[in-house]
Amino acid sequence: LPSRLIDKHGRAITDLRVSITDRCNYKCVYCRTGNDGAQYSELPIADYLRIVKVFLALGIEKIRLTGGEPLLRRGLLDLVSEIAKLRRPDVPLDLALTTNGHLLESLAQPLKDAGLDRITVSMDAVDPDIIERITRVPGSFHHVLAGIRAAQRAGLGPVKVNCVLLRGFNEDQIVSFARFSRDEGVIVRFIEFMPLEEDRSWTPASVVPLREVVERLGEFRPVVSLSANTLSETARRYTFDDGIGEIGIIAPVSQAFCGHCSRIRLTSDGKLRTCLFSQSEHDLYGLMHRGGSDQEMAAFIHATVAQKEARHHIGEEGFLKPSRSMVHIGG
Ligand code: GTP
Ligand code: 5AD
Repeated sequence: LPSRLIDKHGRAITDLRVSITDRCNYKCVYCRTGNDGAQYSELPIADYLRIVKVFLALGIEKIRLTGGEPLLRRGLLDLVSEIAKLRRPDVPLDLALTTNGHLLESLAQPLKDAGLDRITVSMDAVDPDIIERITRVPGSFHHVLAGIRAAQRAGLGPVKVNCVLLRGFNEDQIVSFARFSRDEGVIVRFIEFMPLEEDRSWTPASVVPLREVVERLGEFRPVVSLSANTLSETARRYTFDDGIGEIGIIAPVSQAFCGHCSRIRLTSDGKLRTCLFSQSEHDLYGLMHRGGSDQEMAAFIHATVAQKEARHHIGEEGFLKPSRSMVHIGG
């Protein structure tokens, strides 16, 4: 088997996102219905680790732990330190995590000590009332802010702060976030809302497009474009005329970035997804559970990558929403 993962569109798959739980302590309006009848399904930590090892042998250079909310997962610190131990001196490995930040204040330093490189915190407003209206959890603003600051202090930065823009909820926060980026030294990234929610509330009109964000930022201060760090980067990067602050805009709807996609996802129940919007999943855990060898798992991953879609079709006629929402797929 070739050691590297290349899909049939010629894209190298070097970026693995692993959801380690589909539990979440927030009920964000754009993600979950808030009905807690759901069945949770997670694998033992050792099984995620084995899957990660197989992927590392296939040329994966970037691993992001997601959820659900990954800080809820027992065994997280062990998983991070075991993955960090797999680092080899000649091979780059970027180990990151995306969290809602609620439990981060006390976990930031332990995560850093365990070997985590970077952290991204989801925060959809800088106004406490607006955040609580979105997360539906009292006190969330103060927890998240304390978490971001702890992560910066622990050296997990520059911390990236993700804000999903929802028409009518938080588009008035754009300039406040620009100030927040400048004051706190964090990278703020605005994300266009995608049809990945449980309650099917997405419409094209609910998306705040990149163009509008740039306009609003420009009313605050002159905006300057920055070049991309990597070809597969999700965000367009900007700063201001004085070079203070960094803003990213992730525009999967108005400026899709599928052409350079390098990502593959593992859901918390061990299924591979080649795209957020895939109509099918590939049961890697099933194979492993039946006694599949590392070689068989590697062959399965190759066969899965070969089926990676060219692109998503958000907003086009005939677009089908994936059967599971973001909290199940992993961000
Ligand atoms: P870096 O590792 O710092 O580049 O971060 P990232 O942008 O890969 O990670 P993050 O988890 O912060 O992702 C930011 C957001 O980009 C996600 O929450 C999604 O909304 C969106 N996103 C990430 N990957 C994909 C993808 O493959 N397709 C689409 N349509 N959106 C994606
Ligand atoms: N559209 C865009 N981004 C989303 N996220 C969750 N659901 C959506 C959606 N429907 C974001 C979260 C988090 C990241 C993992 O994905 O806010 O920052």
